[in-house]
This record gives sequence, structure tokens and C-alpha cells, in this order.
Amino acid sequence: MEGQIVITGATGVIGSELARQLIAEGENIVVLSRSPESASAKVPGAAAYTSWNYNNAEGEWTNFLEGAKAVIHLAGKPLLEGRWSEEHKVESYNSRVVGTRNIVKAMQKTSRKPEVFISASAIGYYGAFENCTDTSDLDEKAPAGGDFLSKICVDWEKAAMEAPGETRTVILRTGIVLSTKGGMLQQMLMPFNLFLGGPVGSGSQCISWLHIDDEIAIIRQALDNPSYKGPVNLVAPQPVSMKEFAQDLGAVLFRPSLIPVPKFALQLLMGEGAEYATKGQKVVPGMLNNLGYRFIHPSLREALKNLLEKKR
Ligand SMILES: NC(=O)c1ccc[n+]([C@@H]2O[C@H](COP(=O)([O-])OP(=O)(O)OC[C@H]3O[C@@H](n4cnc5c(N)ncnc54)[C@H](OP(=O)(O)O)[C@@H]3O)[C@@H](O)[C@H]2O)c1
Repeated sequence: MEGQIVITGATGVIGSELARQLIAEGENIVVLSRSPESASAKVPGAAAYTSWNYNNAEGEWTNFLEGAKAVIHLAGKPLLEGRWSEEHKVESYNSRVVGTRNIVKAMQKTSRKPEVFISASAIGYYGAFENCTDTSDLDEKAPAGGDFLSKICVDWEKAAMEAPGETRTVILRTGIVLSTKGGMLQQMLMPFNLFLGGPVGSGSQCISWLHIDDEIAIIRQALDNPSYKGPVNLVAPQPVSMKEFAQDLGAVLFRPSLIPVPKFALQLLMGEGAEYATKGQKVVPGMLNNLGYRFIHPSLREALKNLLEKKR
């Protein structure tokens, strides 16, 4: 196979849309999945579907890395779903950090190195804060935080940066991706549709959001543009408070946004995970501004309208 693009997490919210677009344009996509059969149903039309296990740096899947045009690594156990048992935390960490180490090990063994390695991370890198005013604007030069999610991101990025020197490596420090197919927006829609919507937690935490269209457009630029290198914050230019987010969502849905989801209710559902679901970070797109990236959806109200009116 020539010029293939290998994707892990191609069945997820971000990966499935990215793979769909690349397949539609005739790219040779290789999907690495824990269950290739269900991946072929979710993401039809790829050149190959192959099984991989993040715990193992060896297997048939490693053959597809040979001379790849790109390796895009998005896999990881969903962080803010379910209760944070010890098992959930270990799996969240290992599926990202151990998985990245093993992909990188396999890349190091190739005789023709992949041209580009694009590896997921998150704005949780910077830590989690109660209020938008707790920090100045966080660009890529801001220091890492010290909590559990920061540790995942720091170790995840460190593992990715061990990729071979010949391979250009890009780290996606992604904010809260707005999509109706999963993530925070989808979780907030049901209570809003039942006229029971409102901010999560105190409402004063910062939401550094990004429309899924921009997430995909930026990853696609990172594939081709050699100026994309190292960590890049994938967030829209204007973060908002959770209270403002809920107000905009209510306005777009013609629903009230008055009933907050209290932290104790989330603690019952998520345990320690509630700490992160009720905090945020004020992140700005420093690198994207330097690179001259033009956002498709820079305004939150318009981004929500676009997503919810089209019901994508
Ligand atoms: N969406 C966001 O708002 C956001 C924000 C910041 C960072 N990110 C990061 O960006 C990446 C992609 O995000 P996403 O929202 O598209 O993720 P997602 O929808 O949760 O999908 C992630 C993919 O990872 C694989 N996966 C799930 N559980 C796994 C496990 N226990 N072990 C190994 N692989 C597992 C699955 O692929 P298979 O079943 O095919 O193996 C799944 O399709 C993730 O690493 C996420 O942490 C996302």
C-alpha cells in the first residue's frame, strides 16, 4: 500500500468525521481498532481495517506504519464518562500513555519512517481551575498543571515526542469539541430539551470550546503544512464561562437555562471525575493565530446554531 494514512480512534467522535472526509477524497485510510469488524461498519470505505491492542508494540498492524504518509493517533478511553473507579483511572492513563509508547516503538522499528505523526492530547494539560479569572490566557508556552488529567497529558505528549526524528510530530491539545454525536454538548442536550437545562457546577469555570468542523480542518492542515510541529492548542478564539455557554445553548434551543447541575449530583455519578467536569481552563489558540488559521466558526452562538439547526 502506498501513501497510507493510519488512524487509531477512527471510530470516535473526531476520528469518524476525519476518516469519512479523507476516505471521500480518495485517501488510503488504514483503521486500527480494537474491533475491526465494527469499525468497518462505522467507518466504511477504508483501504484496510486491522486489529491492535494498545498494550502490545507488535502485531500485523505495525506493517501498515511502514512508509506511511501519516499516523493519526486519537485512541483513548473516554475520560468523563462513568464513575471514576481506580480501574477507570488506570485504563484512561494506559490507553493513552502506554498506547502512544507502543505506537512510537513500532514507528521506530520501521525502515521507512512515517512522514507525519499527529497525536491527541487535551487542554487538561494546563490543569483545572474553578474560575475563568484564575489564570491569564493559556497559550502553548503555559506550564502544565499538577492534577491527574494534567499528568495523563504530560506523559501522553512525552511519549509522542519520542517519535523518530525524521517524522514531523504534531500534538493536538484539543479543547471541548462541540458535536451532536458525543461529548459535552450531546450530554447537555437532553436536559435542555426537557426544559431542565442549566450550567454544570458553579457556572464560573471556563469552557475553551471548538466546533468539530474546525477540529477536523486543523488536523487536515497539520497533515500537509510543515509549519505545524509540536503542541498546538485546538480551541476557538474566545473561551466563555459555563454560565455563558448555557445561556447561548438555551437561546439557540429556545429553552430556559436556569436549572444548574449541582456538583454533588455529579459527584454521586462520577466520583472524583466531577472535579474535572465542574472545572475548566482559559485556553487561547496561540499557535493557530501564528499560523494564520482562519476559524470556520469563531462565535459560540453561531457554532451552536450551525450544529443544532442542521442536527448533524
Ligand atoms: N472530544 C473532545 O472534546 C476531546 C477533547 C480533548 C481531547 N480529546 C482527545 O482526542 C481523542 C479523540 O477524541 P474523541 O472524542 O473522538 O474520542 P472518542 O469518541 O471517545 O473515541 C476514542 C476512540 O478510542 C478508542 N477507545 C475507546 N476506549 C478505549 C480503550 N479503553 N482503550 C483503547 N482505545 C479505546 C475507540 O476506538 P476503537 O473502539 O475503534 O478501538 C474510540 O473510538 C481522545 O484521545 C480524547 O481524549 C477529545
